[in-house]
Amino acid sequence: MTEIINKLFKGSPVSDDELAYIISGEYNDSLLFEKADAVRQKVYGKEVFIRGLVEISSYCKNNCYYCGIRAGNKDAERYRLTSAEIFSCCRNGYELGFRTFVLQGGEDDAFSDDIICSLVSRIKSEFPECAVTLSLGEKSYESFAAYRKAGADRYLLRHETADEAHYRMLHPASMDLSHRKQCLFDLKKLGFQTGAGFMVGSPFQTVRELVSDIRFLEELKPEMIGIGPFIHHSQTPFADRPDGSVSVTLRLLSVLRLMFPEVLLPATTAMGTLSGDGRERALKAGANVVMPNLSPVGVRKKYSLYENKICTGEEAAECLNCLKNRIRVAGYEMSFSRGDHKNYNRGATDVKI
Ligand code: SAM
Ligand code: FES
Repeated sequence: MTEIINKLFKGSPVSDDELAYIISGEYNDSLLFEKADAVRQKVYGKEVFIRGLVEISSYCKNNCYYCGIRAGNKDAERYRLTSAEIFSCCRNGYELGFRTFVLQGGEDDAFSDDIICSLVSRIKSEFPECAVTLSLGEKSYESFAAYRKAGADRYLLRHETADEAHYRMLHPASMDLSHRKQCLFDLKKLGFQTGAGFMVGSPFQTVRELVSDIRFLEELKPEMIGIGPFIHHSQTPFADRPDGSVSVTLRLLSVLRLMFPEVLLPATTAMGTLSGDGRERALKAGANVVMPNLSPVGVRKKYSLYENKICTGEEAAECLNCLKNRIRVAGYEMSFSRGDHKNYNRGATDVKI
């Protein structure tokens, strides 16, 4: 075990069997967490970057079997923020010190490319020192190019699983893994700081799928990797499936920190939902980003991807103070900088947009 962790620490290649062994965790994993934390501190010090999350729409045309806001959930409460509401969330966030705004939502065609582009350019012109991240699902190359041209800096699109057969078990036939992967390569090409990722413990997932997720990430080389445990939602086809494991997620966070030293790695809300100190443990295992919620309190419970989601009742300022405290107690410092990826060359792309 020590030998494999040392290989990861030195950046030497590891075999699929070695990765599987580390993920399975039949050993004392404190050395793994220690090494991952050492790498994170070497690259990013004790800084934890904050991103203000604005959940812009709970409408979605897709039907992912795991997701509480899937189109097929007739009981889901739907809302769509207006551009003025989204802008006012960002203004509130700006005043609290946020310098990154993440606009996330279901795949909602009411948000045309024109609407998204004008939102992005308005945010960028009002708050030029801030980064805008979009997380609005799969789009065409032309749409992504338009968002980039409007000033969007980053895009989050978890690949969900890199394995074709597993993807089929999590999504209806109308959805396609090769298109999702193509979107990620398009985003990279357009110069977005690109985030991929997956749920840990999604139904039918085995260690084999997790290893292929890591291999896909090696191919893509994303600037951000979002992972968090799967959490069941009672109005989905996976209502009876067990939640993912916090321990496996922690080990994966450490493996990712060791294999991708500069990556931006969030301690997700899903971790905090399954375990009271889940986000703090994630930080100690190599994570270096948190995403407090800036959405209006009145809509937060409606963006219900899974059950018992935390931080749905507090105002943004309360969330921020609570997290600041948690980060300090865990031994880190909340950073109010934009928090770009270490090797990110602002504005550079290898294509004309
Ligand atoms: N529509 C955009 C997309 O497809 O990327 C962004 C919104 S989507 C709800 C954001 C992420 O939530 C998904 O990529 C998925 O990994 C995660 N998610 C959805 N349902 C979940 C669940 N039941 N438990 C944990 N995470 C979930
Ligand atoms: Fe579209 Fe979940 S099914 S956001």
